[in-house]
Amino acid sequence: MSEATTDAPLAPKRDGVPVLGSAVAFGRDPYAFYEDVASHGDVVRFSMGTYDMAGVLHPNGIRRVLVEEPAAFRKPDGPGVDVLADGLLLTDGDRWQRQRGQLQPLFYRERIETYAETMATYAAAAADEWAADAGGVQATEATSRYTLRVLGKTLLGAETDEHRAAVRAGANAIRERTSENPVAVDLPEWLPTPSNCRYRRGVDRLNGVVDTLLADADGTGEDLLSVLVAQDSGGAGGRTEDELRSQLVTFLFAGHETSATALTWALYELGRKPEVAARLQSEVDAVLDGGHATLGDLPALSYTEQVIREVLRRYPPASAIFRETREPVVVGGYRIPADTFVVLPQFHVHTDPRWWDEPMTFDPERWTDVDDPPGDRPDYAYFPFGGGPRHCIGMRFARMELQLALATIARRTTVSHDCDDVGVDVGSTTQPATDPELRFEAR
Ligand code: HEM
Repeated sequence: MSEATTDAPLAPKRDGVPVLGSAVAFGRDPYAFYEDVASHGDVVRFSMGTYDMAGVLHPNGIRRVLVEEPAAFRKPDGPGVDVLADGLLLTDGDRWQRQRGQLQPLFYRERIETYAETMATYAAAAADEWAADAGGVQATEATSRYTLRVLGKTLLGAETDEHRAAVRAGANAIRERTSENPVAVDLPEWLPTPSNCRYRRGVDRLNGVVDTLLADADGTGEDLLSVLVAQDSGGAGGRTEDELRSQLVTFLFAGHETSATALTWALYELGRKPEVAARLQSEVDAVLDGGHATLGDLPALSYTEQVIREVLRRYPPASAIFRETREPVVVGGYRIPADTFVVLPQFHVHTDPRWWDEPMTFDPERWTDVDDPPGDRPDYAYFPFGGGPRHCIGMRFARMELQLALATIARRTTVSHDCDDVGVDVGSTTQPATDPELRFEAR
């Protein structure tokens, strides 16, 4: 610990009720909870169950954690989601470095661009299917079916209804587990609580599909699965069977739920704001030549891009980023002790009135000049894909998928619904509290 670290005052602490700490207040209203945290400062300690936590709420502090001092933090060894433990999202140190190096080439621009046709034609098929359904479509189910189809085809070289159903069951189990009150998560996994049973059932189903995919893969293709299997049979890096499986589960989870959530929010806002939908449709009608968007259309789809940026601001799919301090660290002039869980709550920072006018209003116009943000808004006031060495590996994939899908859907349909305000459920992803039922009218 450096002298400067020892000298810095301890970050202020927000008191919660004994044992549960701040879990009750967070569970009641996450937005109000973080407003209260913010009233203590930009770096604030609090407790959640048995965990010592610190919220970092200023963009400069967020930059320090993610970009300037990443080595001072590790991925938290927190709420047990054993199926993800050996994959890219949760590994650390040399092991993470090796995995990231091996997987990064799959996400180079040239590779991602070859997926554009699949992303857009699947979006066209989904839009037509939704428009044919006179009864309305449950948004969460429909968008996740779409993103899973894309993921299956592009990264796994395989996709069937059976795979999709199992992945959905597994992803729901993981989401439920990672969104739980930490006090509940502290109960041992072998205890047959309803939550533990649901988690095991969902995850066993997902593991069953992953095992079938692994058994069928011969490692000759260019997709993620083939690359992992080929590297494995070559003995590169001493990967174990568990790691291979964990890696696939990580990509199935991280790669579909986040994008599906963003698409759900985008369609919901189009149904709520006819003026946004009309502007989007006039752009796609002018730019798209045929019935779906192409790679070549992307630079001209600037309003589509604005809508997506605003979705990722107002409803950041990842909701918050977590780290754990390896040693005492100074952030924003305050000391955070070792072994503290550090939270960077996107959903709070993205709606902080210091950086955003009318922050709760969905307004794509605020992104009109993306290269010249208004005022002196710091960079990390907006970080939907994280930042620094551990920024989202799928960022380019997701942004392209969302732009192609939204443009294609807007070209083929007009979306509407009767929901006034579905509410936001801040778990490990930012979901609508009530799943909106959407109607699609063919154009
Ligand atoms: C709108 C869609 C998405 C959002 C908002 C999003 C957000 C994020 C964020 C915030 C992180 C950083 C987490 C941290 O620092 O702890 C992350 C990491 C990650 N994301 Fe995404 N993501 C999206 C789509 C995807 C897709 C499509 C894939 C895969 C195809 C993916 C795979 C991953 C993986 C594997 C990591 C871990 C990277 C590492 O630690 O090296 N994500 N994502």
